[in-house]
Amino acid sequence: MKINKRDTIFLIIVAAVIIVLTVGSKERTTKAVPDDAIHDKVTSRAECMTCHSAEGVKPQPLGHPSANQCFQCHKQPDHWVGGITK
Ligand code: HEC
Ligand code: HEC
Repeated sequence: MKINKRDTIFLIIVAAVIIVLTVGSKERTTKAVPDDAIHDKVTSRAECMTCHSAEGVKPQPLGHPSANQCFQCHKQPDHWVGGITK
C-alpha cells in the first residue's frame, strides 16, 4: 500500500483521538475515600451523607451525581471494615 498525504493526515487524526481519550480517562478518576478512622467504619450511604450532604461538614460539590454507590466512583479505604455490622 502506498501511503499518500491523505493517509498521513488520517493517521495523525486517529493518533490524536487515541491520545485525547487516554489522557481524558486519566483525569476522570475521582478522589479516593480517605483511609482514616472516620471513613474506615462507615458502611451506609446514610452515614456518608450525615457529613457530605449540603448541610454537612464537607458537602459534596455542586452538581455531584446523586448516585448511591459511593465506592463505585470513590475507591474504598484500604482498611475499610466493609459491610461488617456491629
Ligand atoms: C463523620 C463525618 C464523615 C463521614 C460519616 C464520612 N465522611 Fe467523607 N470526609 C469527611 C471529612 C471531614 C472530609 C475532609 C477531610 C479529609 O479529607 O479527611 C471527608 C472527605 C471525603 C472525600 C474527599 C477526599 C479528598 O481527597 O478530598 C471523599 C471522597 C469522602 N469523604 C467520601 C466519603 C464516603 C463515600 C463516605 C461514606 C462511606 C464518607 N465520606 C463518610 C467526613 C466524613
Ligand atoms: C458516579 C460517580 C460518583 C458517585 C457514585 C459518587 N461520587 Fe462523589 N464525586 C464524584 C466526582 C466526579 C467528584 C468530583 C471530582 C473528584 O472528587 O475527583 C466527586 C466529589 C466528591 C466529594 C468532594 C471531594 C473533594 O475533596 O472535593 C465528596 C465529599 C464526595 N464526592 C462524596 C461522595 C459520597 C458520600 C458518595 C455516595 C453517597 C459519592 N460521592 C458518590 C463522583 C461520584
